[in-house]
Amino acid sequence: MPALVLLGAQWGDEGKGKATDLLGGSVDYVVRYQGGNNAGHTVVVGDQKYALHLLPSGILSPGCTPVIGNGVVVDPSVLLSELSGLNERGVDTSKLLLSGNAHIITPYNVTVDKVTERFLGKRKIGTTGRGIGPTYADKINRVGIRVQDLYDESILTQKVEAALDVKNQVLTKLYNRRAIAVEQVVEELLGYADKLAPYVSDTVLVLNQALEEDKVVLFEGGQGTLLDIDHGTYPFVTSSNPTAGGACTGAGVGPTKISRVIGILKAYTTRVGAGPFPTELFDEDGEALRRIGGERGVTTGRDRRCGWFDAVIARYATRVNGLTDFFLTKLDVLTGWEQIPVCVAYEIDGKRVEELPYSQTDFHHAKPVYEMLPGWNEDISKAKTFGDLPKNAQAYVKALEEMSGAPISAIGVGPGRDETIEINSFL
Ligand code: GDP
Ligand code: IMO
Ligand code: MG
Repeated sequence: MPALVLLGAQWGDEGKGKATDLLGGSVDYVVRYQGGNNAGHTVVVGDQKYALHLLPSGILSPGCTPVIGNGVVVDPSVLLSELSGLNERGVDTSKLLLSGNAHIITPYNVTVDKVTERFLGKRKIGTTGRGIGPTYADKINRVGIRVQDLYDESILTQKVEAALDVKNQVLTKLYNRRAIAVEQVVEELLGYADKLAPYVSDTVLVLNQALEEDKVVLFEGGQGTLLDIDHGTYPFVTSSNPTAGGACTGAGVGPTKISRVIGILKAYTTRVGAGPFPTELFDEDGEALRRIGGERGVTTGRDRRCGWFDAVIARYATRVNGLTDFFLTKLDVLTGWEQIPVCVAYEIDGKRVEELPYSQTDFHHAKPVYEMLPGWNEDISKAKTFGDLPKNAQAYVKALEEMSGAPISAIGVGPGRDETIEINSFL
């Protein structure tokens, strides 16, 4: 059985953590391939709730090896505190593998993220402030620090010097901040070296050998398709590739190995931070979705912007990721509406448009064209099969499937591991 990718089909927070955890019991490896601790993945196991930021959600399944791939950006202090938090709760984290090629989020990357956002003022992106963008910028500028650099003090010092040369000029002259001392950064980073050493490995080799031995590898995306640096609503995006191709570059596995790409799709839409969002609601329906869906950010605690389901976006996600399946989450949140609007197309400058416009200006003008679907009142949280759902809920799912262009193979009816209707097996 080759590899599977599981990724967000909207603007993040679709329920990837729960879906990954659900499959975690049946796979050998779960791999994060991009992003960093900007992610916030909630996993509910029995009466225990876990909030994971950097660790793959497979860490909660004892048989599974969690892997942080080369495409991830790693804040060592966050990683170590996440590990110790799980250890205190009795979770064994000793199998974790960390790529030596993953880039490190340094303290100055976090500073630059925050001051840049402040400088942008009204034009800010609304980042998580975790240093994600500046760390990827350093990687592309070839002044990044990698995990493996922690094990060569002389190289580390040279690299931090090279990075701070320019940054200190910008920090002091443009942003009016104090310069950051090279020695202080080097000392802090070296302090992580021994603690991280047991996990550091050649993850590319490990994963490719595992695939040769017919082991099952699951790639877990952070963020979502519309937050992708290439395919999302640029510049209101994150600085990595959550889309399916990112799994190949971010883990060092060829596309021929991937047999299934599962898009996690919320039964409505949410977004955190700035940027266009055609179906956003500013009325009591939006407030109700936020309240019933518990739509508050796991990482930053910000209220999520809420809106109706957008089929144009779902179709786009199917296309750019080559999705083979959807996992529809949070259907239970829609219980109690008499009618549920679903956006089937946009109206842009008086014209009906069926697909996501490539022009950002057009997307900012897009108005949703809604179709009304009949709602249901029955509690669906105990449903185990598709047939257990009320007829109107079944029709809602079928309509979304038809509009979105890939089969809905599982449905979430609650946050718990077992609050899931499985239609087609993923494995
Ligand atoms: P992620 O970033 O994609 O992993 O998603 P988050 O964890 O940030 O947000 C999803 C939220 O929805 C979490 O609080 C989950 O516990 C919760 N959740 C996931 N699936 C379902 C579902 O089917 N129904 C309900 N009611 N909650 C869900
Ligand atoms: P999960 O994995 C939702 C958003 C931020 C901001 C933009 C850029 O939980 O789905 P960044 O700090 O990445 O440079 O911020 O991306 N963002 C997310 N929104 N879920 C996430 O992760 C996100 N990670 C980043 O709010 O708009
Ligand atoms: Mg999240």
